[in-house]
This record gives sequence, structure tokens and C-alpha cells, in this order.
Amino acid sequence: MENKKQPGATLFGIFGASGDLTQRKLVPALYNLYLDGWMPEKFEVIGTSSREMNDVKFRDRLRDGVNQYSRRGEVKDEDWKNFAQCLHIIKMDLTEAKAYKNLSKILADREKKWGTEANRIFYLALPPSMIEPVVRQLAASKLNLKRKRTRIVVEKPFGHDFESAGKLNRLLTGIFEERQIFRIDHYLGKETVQNILAFRFGNTLFEPIWNRQFIDHIQITVAEEDGIGHRGRYYDKAGALRDMIQNHLLQILCLVAMEAPVSFDDNEVRNKKVDVLHAIRPISHEQVHRHAARGQYGAGKINGEYVKGYHGEENIPESSFTETFAAIKLYVDNWRWQGVPFFLRSGKRLPAKISEVSIQFKPVPHQTFPTSATLDWRPNRLLIAIQPEEGILLRFEVKKPGPMLQLSPVMMQFYYREAFKTVPPEAYETLLLDIMKNDATLFLRGDQTEAAWSVITPVLDVWSNVKSTDFPNYQAGTWGPEESDILIAQDGFSWITPTTLKCQEKASVCRIITEPMP
Ligand code: BG6
Repeated sequence: MENKKQPGATLFGIFGASGDLTQRKLVPALYNLYLDGWMPEKFEVIGTSSREMNDVKFRDRLRDGVNQYSRRGEVKDEDWKNFAQCLHIIKMDLTEAKAYKNLSKILADREKKWGTEANRIFYLALPPSMIEPVVRQLAASKLNLKRKRTRIVVEKPFGHDFESAGKLNRLLTGIFEERQIFRIDHYLGKETVQNILAFRFGNTLFEPIWNRQFIDHIQITVAEEDGIGHRGRYYDKAGALRDMIQNHLLQILCLVAMEAPVSFDDNEVRNKKVDVLHAIRPISHEQVHRHAARGQYGAGKINGEYVKGYHGEENIPESSFTETFAAIKLYVDNWRWQGVPFFLRSGKRLPAKISEVSIQFKPVPHQTFPTSATLDWRPNRLLIAIQPEEGILLRFEVKKPGPMLQLSPVMMQFYYREAFKTVPPEAYETLLLDIMKNDATLFLRGDQTEAAWSVITPVLDVWSNVKSTDFPNYQAGTWGPEESDILIAQDGFSWITPTTLKCQEKASVCRIITEPMP
């Protein structure tokens, strides 16, 4: 998130480089950084794979990946040819000490050739079970030691629960210093998620009303149209609460609820975020049913197409009780947020892929206008649209034109795409550049990961002990189970259908929507 150009010489090691993550996310992101002029002058990817593969094959595979997954579409021959020269692959048995000696020699040789010491990044694009053997081997071959220049990158899932996350943190911090460890939550690399900080702390307008006195409740929705694809084995052990809420949604909540950082120093921002997690009121086991709702999708239709239920998906046992939808109500017990509920929900096979934060303001304290003027009246609402549209929308009341006094809600909208005429970078572009620049602001610190697990632990406990009796309980293509509506209705609220969705439906994206919003 720093604003200066090009990091220093970098050797970018990817363990598990023949896998999906490298092809879909990492290399398309590095390629875009290259096209935008952000890459270091001296740069090489050294991928490792358990399979025999030469550089030519590796590069061809990555070129296909960029063509398919990059925001820029197909590569241009000349650009790709220049970029691809920095991509290399070596065969490596990750459990063998001698392989790391070889790696160490390759890194040292490159530095010698360049005539400079380079940043060394070890990116673990590996299944969680491989983290321990790899970091232990890195330590045994002393590859962890050039502390200022060496970084390790760990993908999610970061542990399976509070205990395993703690164990993983102890393992990593026993070998690397905390400042060398970059734990990824890719939501933090999304432009609009970062913009929550810019919006809150770069304006004087909103912060004075950003508290319990003016805010009624907050909703965070991350909805997905897709099912679980080919990830059944992983997903069935995780479920929506672990897969989405423990990390992405809680991180968004932290940005919405945190106090103003004194500076943009990485630890200062992370301190303020972890304060929020610590302030979240623990949910007792007895109260879980009043704070959380779960669902699993059955067959249904999305965009007019029939889709299977969860039990029909690849590698999912008929008897699975894994939730594909989770909703949770949280309170942040501090001066700013006392009594304001935060409702978080996320699910697979919902009607659309859309993520939105809704800040619902309180009603005006006194109704000045006659009842006849306020039939359409709605409290103010601020929407932070995260995806697919990225923007900020504000609902407020105006007088309808005409001789009668009648109030009507309107929406003021800002969309990145329209305002800046540009497609924002992919989350991985921002994150990889930050790793190369050694800026950890957008990465999770160890204590954050454990604090986030502890928030959801009581719910995980109860849900694993008491199986749901009514799965599947929502049809694919709907907004989740009835339990989720009941959860929010207990406090007199209802879920807000993402507003950006409505704007899209109204075609030619309305600058101002004059119809009443729900
Ligand atoms: C991942 C989850 O972390 O985030 C996936 O494991 C989910 O299940 C994905 O689909 C959603 O990310 P995005 O960026 O597509 O919203």
C-alpha cells in the first residue's frame, strides 16, 4: 500500500508452482505488475514442483493461465516473451534436505550473477499439511536466516480452528520472525476493502457519525453464485463459517469498526484491527442459536439454469452436515459500538456473486413532517459495494418535485469504473507487490488469526456437536435458509437485498434512483 515504485531485486520462490494458485492468481498478478511497470528490474520466479517439468512447459502452462484469468485477457507475444524469461521451474522433493541445499545454491548463484543481495520470498502454494515439513526444511538449511530479506507467505486456510492456528503460529514464529511472515487474506487486497480506510479516515464527514449514536446496525453480505466446484474435499471439512466468515468477513468488519490509526504503519493498522476482534462479545454455547444460523443448498435454479444440490457435488458424502451458508450476529463491546448489532452472512449458490457492506443509520429523532409527507420515508443508508461493482452509495431523503410536500429516498452513487475509467487491479497484484516491498499492512498478524478463530469457536463447537436436522434447507438461487431471516428478525431487522444488484437490474446504472429503496 506504499506509494513508491519498484521493489529491489527479488527472487520469488513458489513451492507448489505447478498447482492452480500459481496459474490462476500468482503469475497473472505478477504479469500485470510487470506490464504496469511495478516489477523489480532484477526478478526471477523459481517455482518448485514434485513433477518433472522444464521451463518451456512451465511457461506455456502459465501463459494459458494468464490468457484465461488475467483481467487484461490474452497476452501480447512480445510482452509475454520478455516477461516469461524470468520464470523457472525446478523439480524438488519438499521433504528432502538435499533439495533445499540445491535451492539455496540456485538462490546464491542468482545473487552472484546479479551482483547484489536479493529479497527472497518463499510462497507456500501448498496444501496445509505441507507447511510444517517445508518450513522445517527451510530452517534446517538456514534459508530462514537472512531476516531482513527473507519472507514467507502463507495462504489460507490458516489452521482449522483456534488450536491449530495457534500451533501453526508457534511453528512459524519459532523459525521466522513475525515481520518475515505474510499471512494472506486476499479480501484485504481488494480495492474497495482498502477503500474503507480511505473513505473513513480521509474524510471529515463520516467519522463523527460513525458510532452507536447514529448507526442502527451494520450488515456485511458476501454472496456467491457458484457452488463448491472441484473443491469438495477441502470444502466439506471447512464449511462457510470457516471458509468465509472467520477470515474475509471478520476482516471487513474490523475495517468498518476499527478506531482511527495514528499512522499508516503496518503494525499500527493491525493493532487497531485486532482491538476490534478482542472487543467482540463472546458468544456462549447456550446463545449460539440466537447468534448464528446455518444452511446447506439443495438443487435449484440460478440464472435460469438447473444446478445440483450440495449432496450431489463431487466428493461430498450423502451424509454431509457441512454448512454452505452461515449468518452470524456480533456485538463489538466498546464505547463506539456498544449495542450496535453487526450481521454477517455468506453462502454458496445464492442468486448472485455480490459483496456489500450496509451501514444502516438511525431514524431521525423527531418527525417534523406530516404523516402524508413521509409515506416513503427511509432512514439514511450507506453502502460500500465491494464486488462485482466497486463503489459507494448513499441513500438520503429529498422532497419530491411538485406542489405537495412529499419526501422520497434517493441514492447518490459513486462507482470506481465510472469515476476513474479504469479497472482496479486484482487483489493479488496489490498483495504480491506489498510482499516484495515488505509492507505487511494488508496481511494478518499471528494474533489476528487467533483472535478471529476465537470469535467463531463457540459456534463451531455447537454446530459440530449438534447436527442440523433439516439440511438441505435452502434452494440454490435463493438468499439462504429461513433461519437466517429469523436470526435478523429477532432484532426487528431484515436482510438488505444488495443494492448494487438492483442498480444493475435497472440497466444503464442510475445516477439517482428515485424509487423508494427497501
Ligand atoms: C476463498 C474461499 O477464500 O474465497 C472460496 O475459499 C471463495 O470458497 C473465495 O469462493 C471467494 O473469493 P472472491 O474473491 O471470488 O470473492
